[in-house]
Amino acid sequence: MRITGKTRLAGIMGWPVAHSRSPALHNFWIDEHGADGAYVPLAVRPDRLAQALRALPALGFQGCNLTIPHKQMALSIVDRVDPLARRIGALNTVVVAADDCLEGSNTDVYGFRENLRDGAPDWDPGAGPAVVLGAGGAARAVVAALIEAKVAEIRLVNRTLPRAEQVADELAAPRCRITVHSWRARADVLSEAGLLVNTTSLGMSGEAALEIDLSRLPPSAVVNDIVYVPLETPLLTAARQRGHRTVDGLGMLLHQGRPGFEAWFGVPVRVTRELRAAVMTTLAAPR
Ligand code: ATR
Repeated sequence: MRITGKTRLAGIMGWPVAHSRSPALHNFWIDEHGADGAYVPLAVRPDRLAQALRALPALGFQGCNLTIPHKQMALSIVDRVDPLARRIGALNTVVVAADDCLEGSNTDVYGFRENLRDGAPDWDPGAGPAVVLGAGGAARAVVAALIEAKVAEIRLVNRTLPRAEQVADELAAPRCRITVHSWRARADVLSEAGLLVNTTSLGMSGEAALEIDLSRLPPSAVVNDIVYVPLETPLLTAARQRGHRTVDGLGMLLHQGRPGFEAWFGVPVRVTRELRAAVMTTLAAPR
């Protein structure tokens, strides 16, 4: 990579930011396409987020991604918010528009949808209810994507029930019934389901395992874990052993980066086996 006065710049703001794999992802695409661009980690303290975002046009940045803990706060800072990001209550991508305004969007919905499409192309949204475990920011994006896919029933399961109720209220949509269930009921709600998605942090390296009895899940159901460290979580291993189609979470991370990259650097990109391998290498590397 050679940086010149014409190099297009983008980055990711987070606090901390060192854990982020987005620089590996975007710089892979920059190298792959020989784009004149650079993507840098930006360690921005929460109390300086407004200042940092406002500085993007002044510094000549094309935009940035946002990660923990900035995704919600950024909503009230940017000039224009995409309606989907507004509904979800979080944004992860900012583009500096031609008039220097900051445009915020949420590409996690797109990332989830494309990853599911890649991993289970014949998943039928009409096959049965979708069970979503968790009610955090990731769950909101997953629920929004499932509504968009025209799933008729979403069973939302969370340890803290009021949080699930809030998601169900805020994302309520016609033609999709969202029911909320206690964590204790997580195995019971699997009957007749066509899809099971884990959006909790359980099963991630260093976290407790996700304990769930899959015996009531119909054999045709697809199981997707959005955790990608490890790539095959204990949930996916158990599901695979029972004969379910499984979809890992790495593709969601990779696909959610595409809209931002294409807007900042003006080059269409794809999620390929080589990209997965390159980002997986960074996942294995110590931080
Ligand atoms: P994200 O933005 O990545 O979704 P989050 O907002 O911190 O992260 O949400 C984490 C999710 O994992 C939540 O649904 C959380 O449940 P609570 O709402 O009850 O906190 C869930 N989670 C984390 N640890 C858990 C555990 N030990 N058992 C069950 N659920 C857990």
